[in-house]
Amino acid sequence: MTSKKLQRARDFEKKYSPYVAEELPKFHVTGGIGWINDPNGFAPYKGEYHLFYQYYPYDTKWGPMHWGHVKTTDFMRWERLPAALAPDMDYDKDGCFSGGAVEMPDGRHLLMYTGVRNVRRKNGKIDSFQTQCIAIGDGVNYEKYEGNPVIRSEDIPENGSLHDFRDPKIWREDGMYYMVVGNRTPDTSGSILYYRSEDAIHWEFVNKLASCHNQYGKMWECPDFFPLDGKHVLLTSPQEMNAVGVEFHPGNANVAIIGTFDKEIHHLLRDNVQAIDYGLDFYAPQTLETYDGRRVMIGWMQNWETVGSHLPDQQFMGQMTIPRELSIRNGRLCQNPVREIENYRSVKIAYQNVMMTGENSLQGINGRFIDMTVTIRPGNEASMYRWFKINVARDGEHCTSIRFKPATNIIRIDRTQSGLPCDIVNVREFPVFAGNGELKLRLIMDRYSLEVFVNDGEQAATSVIYTPLEAKSISFSCDGTVLMDVEKYDIIVD
Ligand code: FRU
Repeated sequence: MTSKKLQRARDFEKKYSPYVAEELPKFHVTGGIGWINDPNGFAPYKGEYHLFYQYYPYDTKWGPMHWGHVKTTDFMRWERLPAALAPDMDYDKDGCFSGGAVEMPDGRHLLMYTGVRNVRRKNGKIDSFQTQCIAIGDGVNYEKYEGNPVIRSEDIPENGSLHDFRDPKIWREDGMYYMVVGNRTPDTSGSILYYRSEDAIHWEFVNKLASCHNQYGKMWECPDFFPLDGKHVLLTSPQEMNAVGVEFHPGNANVAIIGTFDKEIHHLLRDNVQAIDYGLDFYAPQTLETYDGRRVMIGWMQNWETVGSHLPDQQFMGQMTIPRELSIRNGRLCQNPVREIENYRSVKIAYQNVMMTGENSLQGINGRFIDMTVTIRPGNEASMYRWFKINVARDGEHCTSIRFKPATNIIRIDRTQSGLPCDIVNVREFPVFAGNGELKLRLIMDRYSLEVFVNDGEQAATSVIYTPLEAKSISFSCDGTVLMDVEKYDIIVD
């Protein structure tokens, strides 16, 4: 039965989201109206891929969390479905927080999420109790399980926080359900708890898969855990991170732990810890395994540090990244846009061996809905160039730039002039593994975003921009000389 709260959200989105359609990105997921944050329940279901998200339809700010819903067959075109969950029960009255989804053996669709119930104490402070709940449905309508929560405050392992216990990611393997979930420990940082169940209702806590020990931020939110290329990967989004060089930035960051899963003790032994995305706007990613065996990740293309930033009359807030295929190369997590984007390429413009000095633009190289790859190498054997820059979304007033310095191997993204009327973080630097001044950058641009993939996906850097669409020039500048190849396609998604 559809509750009043859920029906209200569905009526609201039916009435208002069509008016916003024209303003939306073309191939990046948004809520259609209102606010979205984390991707939820990103999983295959009955031959398609479903994606839910943290959702508050009534404002462009975070509010009591619902789950919005879309689905796709190719990660580029998304069909909007009615809101799936509303905070309409006592145990989730203050929010249906993040979680996962899985297809059940009998064909039903199981959602697992964190129910939040706030209790005001006598001193006025609020305690938020977080428990794990399930809802079962048919791909459009979901019934919350009458025995919710399936993991209650009393079931949390000893010394685990009752207030920071959230974001279950569920999967099925060899006839069992498994789940990882974030929990705060007595040292005030986080750990990832590993559970298993035969029926998704009765859960057994198995072990702590990994613990933060105050090293990478504090509370670890939104975990995901999966095998990849002979290793296991844990993705998590730490709160209150301290910067570490140019690898991890402060605040809400994102971390990939790559290692070996010890199946005897159910613990992840670390080989390497790295940032997942090095840009300004990326948080809370989730992955799925496609029907043809690819591990695909989607992230919230925003960050809690920058949520105050949008255009004054904008009626939606929050987008997802382009889904990305993951792999491990040289022990590091690599990512590239899903290959399906290639089906939407049109109007190829390519140049090879362009000798570049000073500032230049190239005939036909411009646009705001593009997939462009730029490869550079030093143009002068005797002296290395000092820096090279790509300037996109340009007009007389606006410009977003990506600059590379071969002496330090640091890339700097600057979106100071990208149409944002707010003084938020606009610049980010990160190290790359380029050698001898050679570098390959792939840029994916949609109406409000720039995603940069470095050296065939060794690194990604994601940033939201709000530059007016008329600013579509692209130029290249260089202090010194480089030889450059450029291949640009327009991306057309009707
Ligand atoms: C991460 C997060 C999650 C929580 C959700 C609430 O961005 O804080 O931990 O479930 O957002 O919307």
